[in-house]
Amino acid sequence: MNIVILAAGTGKRMRSALPKVLHPLAGRPLLAHVIDTARTLEPTRLVVVIGHGADAVRTAVAAPDLQFAVQEQQLGTGHAVQQALPLLDSSVPTLVLYGDVPLTRASTLQRLCEGAGHDGYGVLTVTLDNPAGYGRIVRDAAGKVERIVEQKDATPEQQAIREINTGIVAMPTARLQAWLAALKNNNSQGEFYLTDVVEMAIDAGIDIFTAQPDDEWETLGVNSKQQLAELERIHQRNVADALLVAGVTLADPARIDVRGSLECGRDVSVDVNCVFEGRVTLADNVSIGPNCVIRNATIGAGTRVDAFTHIEGAEVGAQAVVGPYARLRPGAALADEVHIGNFVEVKNAVIGRGSKANHLSYVGDSEVGTRVNIGAGTITCNYDGANKLRTVIEDDVFVGSDTQLVAPVRVGRGATIAAGTTVWKDVAEGVLVMNDKTQTGKQGYVRPTKKKG
Ligand code: UD1
Ligand code: CA
Repeated sequence: MNIVILAAGTGKRMRSALPKVLHPLAGRPLLAHVIDTARTLEPTRLVVVIGHGADAVRTAVAAPDLQFAVQEQQLGTGHAVQQALPLLDSSVPTLVLYGDVPLTRASTLQRLCEGAGHDGYGVLTVTLDNPAGYGRIVRDAAGKVERIVEQKDATPEQQAIREINTGIVAMPTARLQAWLAALKNNNSQGEFYLTDVVEMAIDAGIDIFTAQPDDEWETLGVNSKQQLAELERIHQRNVADALLVAGVTLADPARIDVRGSLECGRDVSVDVNCVFEGRVTLADNVSIGPNCVIRNATIGAGTRVDAFTHIEGAEVGAQAVVGPYARLRPGAALADEVHIGNFVEVKNAVIGRGSKANHLSYVGDSEVGTRVNIGAGTITCNYDGANKLRTVIEDDVFVGSDTQLVAPVRVGRGATIAAGTTVWKDVAEGVLVMNDKTQTGKQGYVRPTKKKG
């Protein structure tokens, strides 16, 4: 089948310079969600109709399986589909989706397409308590669809109809050429309505098939920031429900945000206010404390991530402890049983099994062996103002507190660095290294006191 996604509209009510369909839901453009769903139906042609902000939209979603049709002026939904027509395969049906309706289930679309069949006409409808603003489904006494009337063109009796047109339709493509060319814009909005094709199909002897979604939110569109926020919450609640069904413990399903994919093993628990972005994998028995942000990361089995930890582009092994208040930046690779504590930042560094940096340290561009203890206030001075340089700390090294390791530098296996040492030369295996410093004392020292008046 062909799929056409309408995305040319302006979206004035968003009050934003960004084209409406590029506003993010769960961290990705609205349109990207629609394209994802479309792809699961394996269309032979996938066409996005763009207009308002065409270049930005094209750049944001371009992919080899996508084609774009430009609608220079937004003259209506019928006119929009007409722009896509030359790109469609006329031997298979066409499904029309909206770029600003992001949460439709693929199974719902499947049902619509199956019901419409190869030559039929299918409309996805929904019955709303408040149908204001939508096109109404007008049926005859036998319940057959007769036409769709836009709110602005509807009589008071028609306005009382609660079954509405979601806008999502499946149509026989070969007929569209003639039907769309015959559309007139002599209506209250002066637009070429795709909905007027319904009567043409009926005249051609086609019964209109209708399908309904399982949930109303599947057909909700975004026209304002309020609606965007509402759909974001619905989507996040759906994601949370899926996690709960999969056996994940969530302290509060209303306080987790997943902007990407979150894969969890068994007995994973997530405390409140955590944000997951990109691809995140949590293995069995991982527990995530409150207020963590985790982006593009893999966390090994049994690892505990404590409160307020920020992890990005990192890999953490099993049985590790990270946080509270830890920061793992891209390229951090922690082996099993590593402990990274409060106010420790790790960037582009491999840390071996059982090693610990529990307090106030920066470990960057480094290779740290196994069972290394990194004392509080240790800093790898990895930047000379122009280049990033590497620090190597071999197995079983003890790094005393307040140590600076001036890269490039290597500390040999089992070495001990005394507290307060600046290490700017390589340290041989097993030695104790310290800087020459003297400690002097001053007897009878009196601290200054505050002067009065
Ligand atoms: C349309 C339907 C209405 C339905 C409603 C559901 C028509 C005539 N009306 O109304 O029956 O209840 O959707 O939300 O079809 N678009 C273009 N080019 C255009 C016009 C629109 O690409 O020239 C795109 C918009 O970007 C949007 C979609 O089509 O994604 C729907 O447009 P919108 O203006 O919201 O349609 P409505 O008038 O609300
Ligand atoms: Ca609309």
